[in-house]
Parts: sequence; structure tokens; C-alpha cells
Amino acid sequence: MARVLVAVTGGVAAIKVPHLLRLLRAQGHEVRVLASRRALEFVTPLSLAVAAGGEVATEEAWFRPDGRALHIELARWAEVVLVAPATVDALARAALGLADDLLGATLLAGAPRVAWAPAMNEAMWLAPQTQAHAERLKALGHALFGPAYGPLAALGEGEGWGRMLEPEELVERLNAFLTPKDLEGLRLLVSAGPTREYLDPVRFLSNPSSGRMGYAVAEAARDRGAQVFLVSGPTALPDPWGVEVVRVESALEMRRAILDRYPWAEAVVMAAAVADYRPAEVSREKEPKGEAEKVVRLVPNPDILQELGERKEGRVLVGFAMETGEGLERAKEKLRRKNLDLIALNWVNREGVGFASLENEVVLLARDGRVWELPRMRKRQVADRILDAVKEFWKA
Ligand code: CTP
Repeated sequence: MARVLVAVTGGVAAIKVPHLLRLLRAQGHEVRVLASRRALEFVTPLSLAVAAGGEVATEEAWFRPDGRALHIELARWAEVVLVAPATVDALARAALGLADDLLGATLLAGAPRVAWAPAMNEAMWLAPQTQAHAERLKALGHALFGPAYGPLAALGEGEGWGRMLEPEELVERLNAFLTPKDLEGLRLLVSAGPTREYLDPVRFLSNPSSGRMGYAVAEAARDRGAQVFLVSGPTALPDPWGVEVVRVESALEMRRAILDRYPWAEAVVMAAAVADYRPAEVSREKEPKGEAEKVVRLVPNPDILQELGERKEGRVLVGFAMETGEGLERAKEKLRRKNLDLIALNWVNREGVGFASLENEVVLLARDGRVWELPRMRKRQVADRILDAVKEFWKA
């Protein structure tokens, strides 16, 4: 958690800042807010102050009779400055190091990390001047979050590049920006979600996997600097930003996608709930219903992880084991049989964890015999613990 100074400059997206402030606080960040004069034409100081839980730093409050210089104080206080929305002018001024307003002065006074959420008309964003300023800021180590493609505010503009990222995504980006990059350089392949084994064009066998565990691994690894490739079965989750995603349906498609990427990968986390069987016959036409009993013959799917284990060549391999009973011995056996470095054992029938829930309770087993019994925690935290272990094997 960090001390975040949110700097608001003059754009329509400023109306989203109170929501952004609430989200940041809900995540445990401490926030303060700075607003330019123009920003206050779009959002009131009162709504910013209420959402931030404290007063707003404005141009008027910059120099006080008591000798306080707000730009120095803010620069010392902040661990990160998030400029949202950032106007074309704010970017340009920061790139040039101008300091005749409170934001410019705060940035020059030594604000440690800076991230920008540009919001402007597409032509202004794409203008070579703006692009040069954005490049300059990146070269200074600043981060740029967006802009996104979408409907633009100015009348008659339609859609384009220049929309501020939504507050939820800004919070994710900021958290990623603040995360130490201890997996920089790791090429990680992750699988997630269920597979669907079709009987006919509209019917399939599947399982209740939501994909959350695998997506959490992909996102946590991305935030820690890894390059991530995600092979996902059908899920309701949006593609995580900054991750290359391939969507598949059946176990056979998943196998193909994973094997295609395997030569590239240095580590693989198989979090997908791959169906063990598929129907032996698949009807091209939708089967009409009938009165008679029906028997479906199933054939086994290839075990993808087992195949990866057979041609491991120095890669780090992580599997999951889903059990209803104790399962420790079975998980150990799987770890050996599939030639894995780690296996994450979790349970199907425990309330509030596992399939389709937000939390998980996992026992991590390593090939060298180490066992970590993790308490119940959010899947994202489980993901980080798994990645801590992956890192050890990767570096070894
Ligand atoms: N897995 C796979 N290909 C399959 C089946 C499973 O790659 N056809 C992977 C899963 O992604 C998971 C691990 O293997 O990482 C689970 O192993 P598995 O032996 O299938 O576990 P269970 O389904 O829990 O085992 P079983 O059904 O044998 O009890």
C-alpha cells in the first residue's frame, strides 16, 4: 500500500476521480488530491475532498502565510503521483519541466514515481508533439496508463484513442507499477479455466472452473515483470491487460495452443481444469431429443501436463490437483508422475474455496519434499505464493 497523490487536471474525465479516490482508499492506499484550476471546472473541491477524506491541494492553497510550501510537502509525502486525467498540456509541461503551477512544481520538487492517465481528443494524443512528450516522460521513468480506445467526450467526436482508462483499471495499473519486478525476464505460460467437450454443436461436458486462479497467476506474474502467455478455456473474465491471451474450448485445442508455446516458455503453470474425457462421437448436427435412454461413450483426453513433463528440459512446471479427500499422497504421486517442480493441492468440497470462488486454500508441494500449507486467502495472494516458489526453481 502506498501514499498516492492523485493530481487532477482539466478534462471531462475529472468527474470519475472521486470514484478513483474511493477505490484507492478501499485498497488500503493513503490518498491526497491535487487539483488544477481547470480541473475544478469539471469536478468540485467538495466532492474530491469527501472522496479523498481530506482537503484538496489547489493553486490558491499553494503558498500560505505560515510559510508552508505545498509543492515541497506533497513531493515529500507522496510515494507515487497519479495524474488523472492528464491533459495534453499537463504532459507537455511536465516533459519540459515547467513549474509555474502546483503540479509542475510538485513533480520537479522530487516526486518519486509518476504515472499519467492521459485523456484527450485522439488527434491531440497522436500529435507528434504529444507523442514526443510522452516518450520523454517514459524515458524519465514515468508510466503511462492508456489512453484507451472508446467514445470521446467532445461533441461529434465519436470513438477514438484518447479516453481515460476506467478507475478500476487505473487502480490495477497503479498496483502493478508499484510492484517490485522480481520476475523480470521470466517467460511464463499459464493455462486457466475449464474445457468444453462437445457432444453436438450446442451440448458439451464441462466443469465449474471460473478461470480465476489461473488468471490471478497470469496477472500477478505480469505485475512482477514476467512476460505472460495465457491459454484460457471459456470464462466470463475479460482478457487481462498486458498479457497475451489465446482462447480455446476443448482439451485438444488447449493442448495444441500450449504445445505451440511450450518452446518459448521457461515456466508453465497449468491451472486449467482440463476435462479428462471427451465424447467419442461428436454429432455435426444438433441431436433432437428422444424418449429412449442414451449412452454417451467417452474417450480419454491426452494429459497435457504429463506431456510437458516428458519434455521438460529445464523448465519449471507447476500443476494443480483437485481432491475431495485428504489427497496429500495422491498429489505427491502426481508431482512425481508428471515430472513437476510444484503442485498446488486444493479441495473441491470445502465451503468458499476452490472452483469459482474468490478465495482458495492450497497446500503447495515441491519436488524436493518441501510443503507449504497456505491459509485461506484470496486467489491473487495464492498466486503470489506460487510464483515465489516458481522463482526459486527458475533461478536455481
Ligand atoms: N491436466 C492436464 N491435462 C489433462 C488433465 C489434467 O494438463 N488432460 C493438468 C491440470 O491442468 C492440472 C493437473 O494436470 O494441473 C491435474 O492433474 P490430474 O491428474 O488430472 O488431476 P485430477 O484431475 O485432480 O486427477 P484425477 O482425475 O486423476 O484424480
